[in-house]
Amino acid sequence: MLLIFPDTSSIADYVSTALINTIKSKPRVVLGAATGGTMEPIYARFVNQVRQQQVDVSGLTSFNLDEYVGLSPDHPKSYAAYMHHHLFKHVGFDGARHHLPDGRATDLDAHCCEYSAKLQQHGGIDLQLLGVGGNGHIGFNEPGTAFDSRCHVVQLSERTRMDNSRFFAENAIVPASAITMGMQDIMDAREILLIATGEGKAPILAEYYQNDITEAIPLTILKRHPRAKIILDEAAASLLPNSVRQDFVTAEADC
Ligand code: GLP
Repeated sequence: MLLIFPDTSSIADYVSTALINTIKSKPRVVLGAATGGTMEPIYARFVNQVRQQQVDVSGLTSFNLDEYVGLSPDHPKSYAAYMHHHLFKHVGFDGARHHLPDGRATDLDAHCCEYSAKLQQHGGIDLQLLGVGGNGHIGFNEPGTAFDSRCHVVQLSERTRMDNSRFFAENAIVPASAITMGMQDIMDAREILLIATGEGKAPILAEYYQNDITEAIPLTILKRHPRAKIILDEAAASLLPNSVRQDFVTAEADC
């Protein structure tokens, strides 16, 4: 299903409310957590709503999508530090329940297997939050990644490293590789919310709707998921073909 909102603030409201409703109906929910600029307003709204409504989040378990190889959890640009800063240091999360790949593991391949296995032991993901890279990557699954992949080490493309360089200080080097949940790990989630905001994401969203399912555009795998919602602001939706917008209007009217 495609949902288009006027701005990032209304997306933050929608996604945060969806998270809270999920936690209320299943306090021991397993969340697939994402990072990146897109998620920041969403986590900020979620923390506020949790405070205001005094929601108990102590039973929530999370598994993050990815982490840079070589960065320790206390490195300020690690995704572990991101999650701590935007979510886990706030409002009653139980630290022991939150999992990220370890970018400093000595045997990275073995660690990836353990991460996928741990995810399965927890019964898999109930609700997966997902962003998208400008080249269509999800998690850090770059174009060409096999759809049946599990957690693995990936060499980041120049495009991705350039896109993400804005989060690193000038002259700091974006790591060349990362650990990511695989495409199949993501698809195993029972529900997926893919969020994209800003005009920079408009071309890849247009490609999503113009192409069939292909490993060349990892995002397209979501067309196969029975419960995936594509959540866009007007800027990210600005290049969508008219036919898609018409479907969207119909879909919205049906809801
Ligand atoms: C990174 C993350 C992805 C994220 C993407 C988009 O590459 N590994 O999981 O979806 O960036 O990030 P942003 O929201 O900053 O555009």
